[in-house]
Amino acid sequence: MKIRKAVLPVAGLGTRVLPASKVIPKEMLPIVDKPTLQYIVEEAVAAGVEEIIFVTSRSKRSIEDHFDSFPELEFTLERKGKHKELAELRALQEMAVYTSVRQSEPLGLGHAILCAKELVGDEPFIVMLGDIIVSPETPCLPQLIEVYERYGGSVLSLVPLPPEVIPTYGIAAVEELEKGALKVTHVVEKPALEEAPSNLGAYGRYVLTPGIFPLLEKTPPGRGGEIQITDAIEMQARAGKCYGVRFTGDRLDTGTPLGLLTTSISFALKRPDLAPGLREYMRQTLEK
Ligand code: UTP
Repeated sequence: MKIRKAVLPVAGLGTRVLPASKVIPKEMLPIVDKPTLQYIVEEAVAAGVEEIIFVTSRSKRSIEDHFDSFPELEFTLERKGKHKELAELRALQEMAVYTSVRQSEPLGLGHAILCAKELVGDEPFIVMLGDIIVSPETPCLPQLIEVYERYGGSVLSLVPLPPEVIPTYGIAAVEELEKGALKVTHVVEKPALEEAPSNLGAYGRYVLTPGIFPLLEKTPPGRGGEIQITDAIEMQARAGKCYGVRFTGDRLDTGTPLGLLTTSISFALKRPDLAPGLREYMRQTLEK
């Protein structure tokens, strides 16, 4: 079945980037001149997604507004002859169907995904974390979709991690299949380093089958008192219905102050209108 929908959980509190995220959702903090979330929506659309489902919360109305029309602004841009800006705004509104559902309390990623159950319905879907950007030059979703189409189960994006961060991720035990695909046999959330079944961590992109919803409904709070998606995926893995892709492309975590800064610099250095000025500024600053 073609994957048409992507769920973007954006209801977390973003405590690592306070105070910036107190009123502005962390997913709306800019990377150069575009909110983080817009890069993620563009990544989904480039992979063939037609409907974006935001799992949002009461303090995050600006997310729905950003992807909706803004007639006064469009009228002003038209009147001032700012055709390029106007075309960009309209392209964003039209590139997908946007829907949203509220997560009334941030009870964990698994709970956030469960909130999208009615909007997803009985079809496979993509999940993309709202603070992880994957560079468009090394996309991840096409690989996940390809493995889903070949094997039919849920598929995780798995990244080789250094030992010091292993206890902060969902870590998978895997068996190699053909053409780079992996069979996930076991997955554990935030294991102690000595208990980790491998160095492969689930990293911000998933294809999930609708069978995940009944499993999430019976998943009790796990690590940190949160309903963990990893715990529901573990049930699929045990039933032989979970696969993985070893992803080594460029991914940028915007969920910390340093991540926000380095992601902005990385994107700015790829922009012909910004790179020369930024390089010059860095050269002068480093010489001081
Ligand atoms: P994070 O754990 O990185 O986000 O979740 P957070 O909880 O907002 O951040 P910190 O740790 O307090 O700084 C990854 C994504 O999942 C969403 C977040 O909004 C983020 O985009 N999320 C997380 C939810 O939608 N609901 C939750 O209950 C938890």
